[in-house]
Amino acid sequence: MIMFHSKPRTLFSPISSFFFLLFISISFSHEEQSLTYLWPLPSNFTSGTYSLSVDPSLTHSVIGNGGVAYSPLLDSAFDRYRRIIFKHAGFGFGKGFGRKLRGSISVVPYDITTLNIVLHSDIEELQLGVDESYTLVVSKANESSVGGEATIEANTAYGALRGLETFSQLCSFDYTTKTVQIHKAPWSIQDKPRFAYRGLMLDTSRHYLPISVIKQVIESMSYAKLNVLHWHIIDEESFPLEIPTYPNLWKGSYTKWERYTVEDAYEIVNFAQMRGINVMAEIDVPGHAESWGAGYPDLWPSPSCKEPLDVSKTFTFDVISGILSDMRKIFPFELFHLGGDEVHTDCWSNTTHVKEWLQKHNMTTKDAYKYFVLKAQDIALSKNWSPVNWEETFNTFPSKLHPKTVVHNWLVSGVCAKAVAKGFRCIFSNQGFWYLDHLDVPWYEVYTTEPLEGIHKDSEQKLVLGGEVCMWGETADASDVQQTIWPRAAAAAERLWSPRDSTSAKNVTVTALPRLQHFRCLLNRRGVAAAPVINFYARRAPDGAGSCYDQ
Ligand SMILES: *[C@@H]1O[C@H](CO)[C@@H](O)[C@H](O)[C@H]1NC(C)=O
Ligand SMILES: *[C@@H]1O[C@H](CO)[C@@H](O)[C@H](O)[C@H]1NC(C)=O
Ligand SMILES: *[C@@H]1O[C@H](CO)[C@@H](O)[C@H](O)[C@H]1NC(C)=O
Ligand SMILES: *[C@@H]1O[C@H](CO)[C@@H](O)[C@H](O)[C@H]1NC(C)=O
Ligand SMILES: *[C@@H]1O[C@H](CO)[C@@H](O)[C@H](O)[C@H]1NC(C)=O
Repeated sequence: MIMFHSKPRTLFSPISSFFFLLFISISFSHEEQSLTYLWPLPSNFTSGTYSLSVDPSLTHSVIGNGGVAYSPLLDSAFDRYRRIIFKHAGFGFGKGFGRKLRGSISVVPYDITTLNIVLHSDIEELQLGVDESYTLVVSKANESSVGGEATIEANTAYGALRGLETFSQLCSFDYTTKTVQIHKAPWSIQDKPRFAYRGLMLDTSRHYLPISVIKQVIESMSYAKLNVLHWHIIDEESFPLEIPTYPNLWKGSYTKWERYTVEDAYEIVNFAQMRGINVMAEIDVPGHAESWGAGYPDLWPSPSCKEPLDVSKTFTFDVISGILSDMRKIFPFELFHLGGDEVHTDCWSNTTHVKEWLQKHNMTTKDAYKYFVLKAQDIALSKNWSPVNWEETFNTFPSKLHPKTVVHNWLVSGVCAKAVAKGFRCIFSNQGFWYLDHLDVPWYEVYTTEPLEGIHKDSEQKLVLGGEVCMWGETADASDVQQTIWPRAAAAAERLWSPRDSTSAKNVTVTALPRLQHFRCLLNRRGVAAAPVINFYARRAPDGAGSCYDQ
């Protein structure tokens, strides 16, 4: 005897089926059927020609090595994705409506009633290079199975998270049957990221961003499979974070309302980890640190010359050490960003006691810059962090940096090539393309920029950890940060996730633009204020009336 699975599906009369087919042919002619509307594009996949219905009471099961697995991370992820997939009200979604109609229509089961998640390890530690690969199979019932199949297999829970995102992008609401459908089944997807580090930098010093906004950004990052939030918490303008060891530091916040408690920071790290996203914190020393002196004026060379931090005082390095000790408890990620960019040393050479210190130690200001950066690196290393520094440190004294240093490119092209040639790891963020506050960079320039440009040796390519788009905060706050990040961050996200040959050497107007427009509308549907893709000036409102999918 055949047992039908849980919730029944309602079917329409032949007349509405006719309109259903008509609707399909109209909506299909709108889309380029050879394209696969997944973003970022999986590394390897095949699709078919039929459609499957998804049960609105979709359940999931997690199977580990030793049988049924307990994974709070995947349970809550499944709940999130259920809410995303079943957004529309339809049959079986709300109780009253379905009941009223049930008597008059025939009933068949849904094709997909359970999402199976198979984990090949119980690794739940999130670190750089964690295995994010997964396979996803969606197929219909055959003679040996009652229902259709939807299975994600992954080596870690984080791979399964990426598979869940892909599954959610396969699902679409059908307005005629009022059911969620997976078109172009059967699907067989084998996927893995091209780069281990796929970052977004968020600046909460130039403008304070409320916790809920940071969480929205993190949530939206997971839709594009980005996996590192580089939190540029503090800069010269404000110091919003609580540091228990030096409790006056957050006197450098703009107001007492624009602050993050230690508990807030834990909460953000935990929220991100649940979405497979690491948080890399930054203190940008010695150059971008004027706000530190609001609480401890001794950190300034003098009250009239406030930046860089005073290199001559032991107190300066005590404070850095205290900050890093407190932060180490919050941020488990193995990378920590020490800044090191734009160090203008006038306040060192023209403040009497610092100048005397330089002379006593026979140092030029350039020597003192190196001394400062290396001392900060030692502190980070002593806390078991690998230091990341902006490229000026590498450009100025490449042979002195600790070998574990990750060089963070921003100024010009070719820096990663030089850094990896000297054996350093590198993160690509060329400002000409991947600075999101540069509003006149169109999506296709973001998309076609290649982190491995000019790097040919396999051993050197491996040292490029990946890249990061940077959302500097001078002209972005809670009112416009999401539409400045999206959709262009997604262009970089596909470059960093998908195989190089699927993102390069083609006409991107054909291969990528319609898919990116689709993804932008997906973000809008999920409540993310992503701006139109083809407006030349980023984050600008649409030019006029029109479909989301055309702008
Ligand atoms: C892609 O999938 C096909 C079919 O499963 C397989 O034959 C092929 O080896 C895969 N290619 C890669 C690069 O994984
Ligand atoms: C039938 O479906 C089951 C489960 O979905 C699958 O494991 C099996 O490979 C399928 N068999 C055929 C012949 O397609
Ligand atoms: C020292 O240099 C800073 C930065 O260039 C400048 O603003 C300041 O006026 C200088 N002070 C003296 C005493 O020259
Ligand atoms: C000071 O440094 C310079 C350049 O590094 C070096 O040539 C010189 O010998 C040093 N002088 C003393 C007194 O250490
Ligand atoms: C790319 O395709 C678009 C749309 O078909 C076309 O207008 C454009 O000329 C093509 N660009 C190139 C460089 O071939």
